[in-house]
Amino acid sequence: MIKKWWHDKVAYQIYPKSFCDSNGDGIGDIPGIISKLDYLQDLGVDIIWLSPCYSSPLADQGYDISDYYNIDPRFGTMEDMEHLIAEAKKRNMYILMDLVVNHCSNEHEWFKKACADPDGKYGNFFYLRDKDGDKLPTNWRSYFGGSVWEDLPGTNKQYLHLFHKKQPDLNWENPEVREEIYKNINWWLEKGLGGFRIDAIINIKKALPFRDYTPDREDGLCSLDNMLKDAVGVGDFLSEMRDRTFKKYDAFSVGEVFNEKPEDIPVFIGEDGYFSSMFDFSAEVCGKSGKGWYDAKPVTPDEYKNCRFDAQARIGDTGFLSNIIENHDEPRGVNRYISDEDRSDQSKKMLAALSFMMRGIPFIYQGQELGMENLEFTSIEQVDDIATLDEYQVALDAGLSPEEALKAVAKFSRDNARTPMQWDNTEHAGFTTGTPWLNVNPNYTRINAATQQNDADSVLRFYKKLIALRKNEEYKNTIVYGSLEPVWRDRHNLMAYYRKGDKTLLVIGNYQKEEQTVGLPAPYKNVLLNNYDDLKETDNAIKLYGYQVLILEL
Ligand code: GLC
Repeated sequence: MIKKWWHDKVAYQIYPKSFCDSNGDGIGDIPGIISKLDYLQDLGVDIIWLSPCYSSPLADQGYDISDYYNIDPRFGTMEDMEHLIAEAKKRNMYILMDLVVNHCSNEHEWFKKACADPDGKYGNFFYLRDKDGDKLPTNWRSYFGGSVWEDLPGTNKQYLHLFHKKQPDLNWENPEVREEIYKNINWWLEKGLGGFRIDAIINIKKALPFRDYTPDREDGLCSLDNMLKDAVGVGDFLSEMRDRTFKKYDAFSVGEVFNEKPEDIPVFIGEDGYFSSMFDFSAEVCGKSGKGWYDAKPVTPDEYKNCRFDAQARIGDTGFLSNIIENHDEPRGVNRYISDEDRSDQSKKMLAALSFMMRGIPFIYQGQELGMENLEFTSIEQVDDIATLDEYQVALDAGLSPEEALKAVAKFSRDNARTPMQWDNTEHAGFTTGTPWLNVNPNYTRINAATQQNDADSVLRFYKKLIALRKNEEYKNTIVYGSLEPVWRDRHNLMAYYRKGDKTLLVIGNYQKEEQTVGLPAPYKNVLLNNYDDLKETDNAIKLYGYQVLILEL
């Protein structure tokens, strides 16, 4: 395998709106991010992925871009962005921006021009279809609910939006669209970006000609998965994009890819793949239902283990996954993968170590390093996220009472991860001096960065140790490039694996509150990490405490 600069890095995702507000308007901004670079450097972060901060009406919190060449004034200025890139560079850190090019905003000038002249050049930037009475061009359901078709204002046409109606899909079949996108990517790479996280990218290829599929809910619509299964040839777009942009700059790219087919893996992330890496969403999708969030099942420890191990086995040493336990689209991992009764610093640390030590590039989502938790929503009025509002309606339509519907969607709401970052125990968790745009989790008095910095046993300090271990010259090669082999895979509520390279490491997590004993296959030389102060040993066996996690060198 050819070594790449990003293989041994640690990445951190920032959701700019909720990270740090420097000017008191209640919205996080780029100067706020700059003020926290030292914190991130001290943690050991090398790569920072920024969720979108381009000009945007923020209908989907910036994933609806109205100008790819500008920064939204709420987040700062282009000078701030350049300053951020420069300040990061001083600290040997790389900035990734979010590449959102499946769709733009309906307030982008391309879309405005398409409305003004749908048969002209810009009409062909989108997927437009003539209106035919009440009949929709296809029966596909948008990811955010309702039909994917919406009237094109001022015309007798409709346009396609796989996401929100304020996010019209760009027509990638049109070479002029692709040229515009490559031009913009290169423009940003010229500014010194390290690369991009690539949003919703599988959606850029549509199955043509458009057709209906069997409806799967009462609304008479069908999931977009049907169309995506039929869409062949996304690789032509992706390889062209790689060659025209990332490759020339040796830039890092990580794809948001769901439902990849086994044969896709080598071409997606193998040597000279379309992307440098792609996220492992195996645990995120576990237990989800086609009916909606209200029907999702909790993920058990054994399911968690099997998802993650299966994903590792699918990839093998073909390439690198990017490992996450949460992001801005998910609830907090410590809520999703640990039961309410068992959530504690110990169980949070166990989850961190199990995920972090897997083969791949670890991504930490802001606040994850503090063990930040879901918000307890008491009313749907507190929800901002469009996906949650849609799923609430889906739950009501399925017959749930408003209380039940709120309870069901609160567990999965994207707002759980979007509450302001908890910096300290002053008002609004030190995030802003103004009124935060989204409620701060009231647990900030207990869970915050300042308190945890000073507590050697905190979740934050544990993350620091994990990162330091990944960077330790002695173990680095094994942790980055070593193989992953599951051990005792059938043991209930136990997740354990070897990382084998020039060293042999054994990672063991007791994924339950009860103790359990494991016999060691070989004596260990060193305990590299332990989330308890001690280790209970009885001849060649270890009696693990509840949620104990160990990293041993054999
Ligand atoms: C991705 C983003 C999500 C956004 C969607 C549409 O899934 O992560 O936040 O809503 O794409 O851009």
